[in-house]
Amino acid sequence: MNQGKPGKIMLVGLGPGSHDHLTARARAAIAEADTVIGYATYIRLVKDLLDGKEVIKKAMTEELDRAIEAFDRAKLGRKVALVSSGDAGVYGMAGPTFEVLFQAGWTPDSGIEVEIVPGASALNTCAALVGAPLTHDFCAISLSDLLTPWPTIARRLDAVAYADFVVALYNPKSGRRTGQIVEAQRLFLRHRDPQTPVAIVKSAYRPKQRIEFTTLEKMGEADIGMLTTVLIGNSNTFVRHSLMITPRGYANKYDVEAGSGGARDGEKAGRSLSTGLHGWRTAIHASGRSPAELASDYRLPEDYIASVLNEALQVEPDESSEVVGDA
Ligand SMILES: C[S@@+](CC[C@H](N)C(=O)[O-])C[C@H]1O[C@@H](n2cnc3c(N)ncnc32)[C@H](O)[C@@H]1O
Repeated sequence: MNQGKPGKIMLVGLGPGSHDHLTARARAAIAEADTVIGYATYIRLVKDLLDGKEVIKKAMTEELDRAIEAFDRAKLGRKVALVSSGDAGVYGMAGPTFEVLFQAGWTPDSGIEVEIVPGASALNTCAALVGAPLTHDFCAISLSDLLTPWPTIARRLDAVAYADFVVALYNPKSGRRTGQIVEAQRLFLRHRDPQTPVAIVKSAYRPKQRIEFTTLEKMGEADIGMLTTVLIGNSNTFVRHSLMITPRGYANKYDVEAGSGGARDGEKAGRSLSTGLHGWRTAIHASGRSPAELASDYRLPEDYIASVLNEALQVEPDESSEVVGDA
């Protein structure tokens, strides 16, 4: 106990569940803590690190209780580790904890320190197990409608399916909540090829780990549960040798397929393919679509397309090009 000293709350992301993927800082934060609070399953993941500590196990639904309990202990001068699987800031305890703290009038200089210890989230760890599916624009959507109304989730699913993001679906299904993944599939099929690659990763880096490759069309037949993350590819994602890959786009610039690595005709190494704002003009020339049709294709207002086209005409071609960012 740190009686008399200011308390501290550490929001600790444990990563996927294996000690190999627990960061050094997460391990040190748990070692430093007097009290460790978490959902019983997460506590079990680090049970060998808890000797001599006060351990408070809570049920899955008791997130606010966990945060209140942590604050109460910290007010007594204790160092509290509030543990989450993956990253505490990704569908984890970080948000609810700050909500509780703010409601209680806490401020960063009020004596109780709060540290967020990042951890590898399910999307990183599940992606690592199946290849490189997130190498281009992606997003995460939770299918849990306990705190978010289903129409809001459905609108987001539709928007990202249309916009061709790679998507990591968290909380895809539970014993009682089985329909959401079917609805998600239905929304995606409205915009995406039925053959779009899908990876289903269950219990990543835990003893019951299971990986299944399927397609959007067959996704509903897969074994999906509470501890599953579903990775849906974009229109360029492919699976080869049991690896799911989303290209970054280098094949457009270099002869990656031919294995030569040489720049394509008309391309210079270190020079970007970026067309900047001229992209709209390029899109019009390449597709033969009118501004109005482009507005509909890209779900953007017509007056926006008209204004960017107008602006693009006033910019010299080289002004907006830049070098592709390194990894
Ligand atoms: C409440 S969210 C917690 C997410 C966590 N904070 C993170 O950053 O990964 C629970 C969801 O995370 C995903 N998840 C967590 N751990 C996982 C694992 N080891 N393997 C696969 N998915 C996992 C599942 O989609 C699960 O339904």
